[in-house]
Amino acid sequence: MRELDASCYHAARGFLPLLLDELPDRDRVDGELVTVLGPRRRPYWTRNVWEKPLLIEFASVGEAAKALRSIQRNWAPLPARLHRRAALIADKLPPLPLKPKAFPFVPPDVPMGAFTLLDENTMIASPVCSSPFPNGEFEFDEDKEGPPSRAYRKLWEALVLAGTMPAAGERCIDAGASPGGWTWALAGLGAEVLAIDRAEIEPRIAALPKVRTLRHDAFTLKPSDLGPADWLCSDVICYPPALLEWVGAWLESGLARNFVCTIKMQGALFDKATTERFAAIPGSRVLHLWHNRHELTWINLERDRLHAAPGAGI
Ligand SMILES: C[S@@+](CC[C@H](N)C(=O)[O-])C[C@H]1O[C@@H](n2cnc3c(N)ncnc32)[C@H](O)[C@@H]1O
Repeated sequence: MRELDASCYHAARGFLPLLLDELPDRDRVDGELVTVLGPRRRPYWTRNVWEKPLLIEFASVGEAAKALRSIQRNWAPLPARLHRRAALIADKLPPLPLKPKAFPFVPPDVPMGAFTLLDENTMIASPVCSSPFPNGEFEFDEDKEGPPSRAYRKLWEALVLAGTMPAAGERCIDAGASPGGWTWALAGLGAEVLAIDRAEIEPRIAALPKVRTLRHDAFTLKPSDLGPADWLCSDVICYPPALLEWVGAWLESGLARNFVCTIKMQGALFDKATTERFAAIPGSRVLHLWHNRHELTWINLERDRLHAAPGAGI
């Protein structure tokens, strides 16, 4: 067993080409896993990062499983090749927590490792990974009747990872709210929601007791037009610079405490320059969530801004 001076980046589902663009000096690619030698990089299009990869040699399936179990309990197989052999090793490991999760929940703080076979007798395995979920994947217990769209799952995931969420009575602005999935989720937490969209919010969501609606272009509304917000949420379909300009005005106004916004990419493109500007705002996290598609999620919490070193700003 040997420690590698490298990190392995598991591509966000469907976005391996964007990850490869972000890591041009990679050492190897195994399926969706990109290995880069040297210090840890911070690419955006990942679902999981293997932070402490080990090279393990083994003679048999049993020996491979024993080597992994001697390190820790939880290991997710990432089958890039030799699928059957990887499955046989996984069968000899303790079961993974794969049941859908009820919102809200606290992410597990036990280590979740991952391994992949390089050949019949060699694997890369990392006991330390960036995601607490096997291969960065998890599902929620879904509500099939309440929300009018499934977009609420990415807001739920962002709030789970934020480690905090709107409290009952807090004021939320939901921009780009139609048909109303995020508004449904925010109202479900007991928050007061102002749902803004150029399109209609589904009437039964607009009729919820804590919901008010405003049919308008969100970006022509200034912070002073809308007043203070504990949470400013945006799922508006727009060019990233337009969103950056709008949230910049909110940050400058001091009227919004916490932000969860999706940064939507156009076509096959990745607007890296604007993404870097979001990431440079003090206290920011920019992530590809398991429930995101061709978009990233910007999370910025008041408590993180207050404790962050001053950054480049907007
Ligand atoms: C992905 S959908 C939002 C889905 C919603 N979050 C949900 O959970 O159901 C994006 C929305 O952005 C709205 N939109 C696009 N440009 C807008 C703008 N400038 N102002 C307000 N809404 C806008 C669209 O009308 C569309 O309803």
